[in-house]
Amino acid sequence: MTESRAEIVPRFDPFELQDTILGDIRDPFPALAAARRRGGMQAGPPDLFDDDSEIDIAPGAPVFTAYSHDAVTAVLRDPDAFSSSILADILGRTILQMGGDEHRRHRALVSHAFRTKALARWERDLMGLVVDELIDQFVDSGRAELVRDLTFDFPVQVIARILGLPRRDYPMFQRRSIEMLSILVNPDRGKAAARALDEYFAGVLENRRRQPSDDLISDLSVTEVDGHTLSDDEIFAFLRLLLPAGVETTYRSSGNLLYALLTHPDQLRAVAADRSLVTPAIEEGLRWEPPILFLIRNAIRDAEVCGTTVPDRAIVNVCIGAANRDESRYDDPDRFDVLRQSRQHVTFGWGPHMCIGMHLARMETTVALNAVLDRLPDLRLDPAFEPPFVQGTAFRSPPALHVRFG
Ligand code: HEM
Repeated sequence: MTESRAEIVPRFDPFELQDTILGDIRDPFPALAAARRRGGMQAGPPDLFDDDSEIDIAPGAPVFTAYSHDAVTAVLRDPDAFSSSILADILGRTILQMGGDEHRRHRALVSHAFRTKALARWERDLMGLVVDELIDQFVDSGRAELVRDLTFDFPVQVIARILGLPRRDYPMFQRRSIEMLSILVNPDRGKAAARALDEYFAGVLENRRRQPSDDLISDLSVTEVDGHTLSDDEIFAFLRLLLPAGVETTYRSSGNLLYALLTHPDQLRAVAADRSLVTPAIEEGLRWEPPILFLIRNAIRDAEVCGTTVPDRAIVNVCIGAANRDESRYDDPDRFDVLRQSRQHVTFGWGPHMCIGMHLARMETTVALNAVLDRLPDLRLDPAFEPPFVQGTAFRSPPALHVRFG
């Protein structure tokens, strides 16, 4: 899977597809904190949505929102009361919508593909190569826009290489992934993109079955746990989920981390000087500004959470962003502080559906941040541009990060 650096990847401009990001809220945290203080679990949608941006995924169903760390983790660890099957309409049926034995079996099969040995090989053979190649393109200029030039391309290229896709297909893969994510705002385009990706993966899978290689798709096609293997449709569904789950989240979380460090230059300098702070900085970035503000569940029976009864059929917004800043768990929770005493955040979820890719995401971010600190000395915001900001309601990250270095 080693590739020559000389091959040119035709660029796809991510910002052509402007309507894929739901909501443009810059600072949701004061409203979420006020709501959390009124009660950990409450009837009603999150206070944040204005009438236009809220999407009613189950018309007529009662709506609840979990704000506190206790309420959020209680919902996520109880799949017998709170299911994620509601998302099947959006993503098709994937591991996220499964429950019980089916979920355990499926999770064991796909987790096998993300085993420690595979991760170590990906770190060694491809992550450093991808990040260096991206940085090569702007390092001599002394300035960059880190979202377009680095964080947007990095995870999609890592996943494309893990899947063993040919380089000429990267821009198509990236475009279709983003179009698919816009399914809530543009259903026709989203569904067409999902179909196109399935057709594309069908061809790739057929090739891999004929001629297995050392990539994830070959691995998924042969892995067996307790006599079970994955069907072709299950493999397509998993590959389809990898894009929103593995690419969108990681690109946004690394942008959020760089935003946090660039707007706290003393902490950026501390991390650059002492690389044992890279891991705590990544965890603090994930806690402080998670790329996904909400998860969603549907109640499948009546349940009580933090003193509130949530009725069967209710839709529950699970507010990751509010739980990560719960003052009963974190001191001075709105402060970004890489030296904070670490306590597990809920950015990767909780309970049986907790993120399968979290070790991969952490590894990618570690490789990217170390490369940035090694190759872009004296990194700072470019004063010629407006100060950066994070925006978004469903997905959050900075639209741009203009920097200078050297
Ligand atoms: C910073 C980056 C990431 C974040 C914040 C993140 C977050 C999450 C969250 C919150 C969940 C639980 C969803 C729920 O319970 O409804 C989840 C599940 C999942 N994630 Fe991630 N993720 C990240 C990166 C990745 C990567 C890199 C991959 C794979 C390449 C991945 C694959 C998955 C899969 C397959 C699931 C479903 C697990 C299941 O249903 O059992 N994620 N992720």
